[in-house]
Amino acid sequence: MARERIISSESGGPAEEEFNVSLRPQTLREVVGQGGVIDRLEIAMAAGRKRNEPLEHILLSGPPGLGKTTLAFVIANEMNGRPPRVTSGPTLAKPADLMSLLTNLETGDVLFIDECHRLPKIVEEFLYPAMEDFRVDFTIEGGLSGRVVNFALRRFTLIGATTRSGLLSAAMRDRFGHELHLEFYGTDDLTTILERSAARLKVESRGDALATIADRSRGTPRVANRLLRRVRDYAQVRADGVLTTEVVNHALDIQQIDSLGLDGLDRAYLSTLIKTYSGGPAGVEALAATMGQERDTLEDVVEPYLLQIGFVIRTRQGRQATREACDHLGLPFTPHDETARESDDPKLF
Ligand SMILES: Nc1ncnc2c1ncn2[C@@H]1O[C@H](COP(=O)(O)OP(=O)(O)O)[C@@H](O)[C@H]1O
Ligand SMILES: [Mg+2]
Repeated sequence: MARERIISSESGGPAEEEFNVSLRPQTLREVVGQGGVIDRLEIAMAAGRKRNEPLEHILLSGPPGLGKTTLAFVIANEMNGRPPRVTSGPTLAKPADLMSLLTNLETGDVLFIDECHRLPKIVEEFLYPAMEDFRVDFTIEGGLSGRVVNFALRRFTLIGATTRSGLLSAAMRDRFGHELHLEFYGTDDLTTILERSAARLKVESRGDALATIADRSRGTPRVANRLLRRVRDYAQVRADGVLTTEVVNHALDIQQIDSLGLDGLDRAYLSTLIKTYSGGPAGVEALAATMGQERDTLEDVVEPYLLQIGFVIRTRQGRQATREACDHLGLPFTPHDETARESDDPKLF
């Protein structure tokens, strides 16, 4: 898409990343929400400290923009005060790409692998002994056959992040000591996040202005912070710089974000499903092709929130739009006979 998708929970490029980094919590205490996940992390970290051992490997899963990268940095900061070494699944083509990262890790360092469901098989298998026994078997090319050298590594903590833990192999998954799933945030938590961001950006707000932004942020902190920036621009240009509920509503209407926080792509998905496929069931491939979108975009960015708010359900036959979705778009609802839900299939998430 040519235009930045304002609601997209995916990163919006370097400028936005810089802005996000400045708003990122540094300590576990500053992390808002995700109560259960934070409790488990606190216990694991305290236990590790007591035994003077690095944390076990951690898998963080959940839709984009909910705080996986943030948490990885917070954990590293809390554990030994050193920033994590950062890499990601798709950038690691072969074991050699990981070698210097691994061998340079100090005891207790965090290695953060983003999008770890996209690690090539060969790299994944190379990682197993690193995760399990803190050693790697590295093949040095040369001569007729390669020479295998065994390297000992220092005890480190691998933090893997994924938007699709269902795509991870069972073998990989088993090697993580903790599996933590991040959920969408409620309005109160998002309002707290926005209050801190507004304070840091020195943006003044009145009444329910920030709660109104929170309500229209699709449960996602990254989206909330992005909307805050857009609203701040609008307030500076069209108002006196102060955010009020009215200013927020105007600014977000101009951005074509509706009362539930859905944007053009969300509505295009729903109207394709409802109009072209009579409400479904329709396969995600078919929807993606009709919309001219990547299947991954729909599955990672669009569908999780629509599932969360009950606008879409997944059945064995495909996606179905619910009555609530039709009502929201002002379109007639076609009832379906069978709704064999597949919500307990882990592959779906
Ligand atoms: N729990 C949280 N508390 C405060 N801010 C958060 C929280 N989670 C995310 N954020 C904000 O949202 C932005 C996006 O989070 P990020 O960690 O990059 O998401 P992910 O890696 O899951 O895509 C961060 O830069 C941070 O400003
Ligand atoms: Mg991230």
